Amino acid sequence: MRAKASMDESEHRFSEADRRGLYRAIYERRDVRSFFKPNDVPDDVLARLLDAAHHAPSVGLMQPWGFIVIRDGQVRQTVYEIFDRARLAAAQVYNDDRRAIYERLKLAGIREAPLNLCVTCDEKTARGHGLGRQTMRETALYSTVCAVQNLWLAARAEGIGVGWVSILDVDELRATLGIPEAVVPVAYLCLGFVTEFGAEPELEIKGWEQRAPLAGLIHFERYGVTDEARAEQLLRSLSPKEAVEDKS
Ligand SMILES: Cc1cc2nc3c(=O)[nH]c(=O)nc-3n(C[C@H](O)[C@H](O)[C@H](O)COP(=O)(O)O)c2cc1C
Repeated sequence: MRAKASMDESEHRFSEADRRGLYRAIYERRDVRSFFKPNDVPDDVLARLLDAAHHAPSVGLMQPWGFIVIRDGQVRQTVYEIFDRARLAAAQVYNDDRRAIYERLKLAGIREAPLNLCVTCDEKTARGHGLGRQTMRETALYSTVCAVQNLWLAARAEGIGVGWVSILDVDELRATLGIPEAVVPVAYLCLGFVTEFGAEPELEIKGWEQRAPLAGLIHFERYGVTDEARAEQLLRSLSPKEAVEDKS
């Protein structure tokens, strides 16, 4: 009986509806900088998002994250000014056509979004007893990014847009939010209900960058051994819709 059950590869699979919901959140998640409604994100929704983040994997179960909840308009204005200085400084590295596109991009919704969140990482926490971190020191940061992604997907399911702002001077951000030297501000996020989610990344729509074909990113057995025909064969059943089709 046991042997038979272990042969059943769909034994632990979610129902088709649940799988569709999960893949829908993955494919329809967007980085949102426009279209925010002014409505507050209610506490019960925010609680679900934070708890989704808090259930992310973390190295050694260290859970190095912290969440600074920012609703105050004055604080958001100060962060906006930090962003705007950094945005203008960053423009200097681009020339001509590329700079013209850069200047047309909307790169943050700090003031428009009613809720901002700064997700921090305490790399020095004793939690987790150093498991996994002696070999890969960055894993505390990786864990925190997993928490951000959980939150981002849960937010999409709740109809809430999230935009990640990295065009910020970290020292100025630390000073504004009182973040100690030992703690890393990993993500500054703008959140709110939105009037729409784009079908594609805004950077694609505005001509900044295109999604790379997946087949070219698959390496076989060793890094650098790519084989597009073989990769395409591997991916042949795949399209966003078919990916969740129940084949059982
Ligand atoms: C670590 C990280 C930092 C990002 N920083 C910014 C940013 O400063 N400004 C911005 O407009 N988008 C930022 N983004 C969003 C990306 O531009 C966006 O994820 C990408 O274009 C793909 O679009 P999508 O998220 O809608 O699929 C960031 C995303 C990540 C993962």
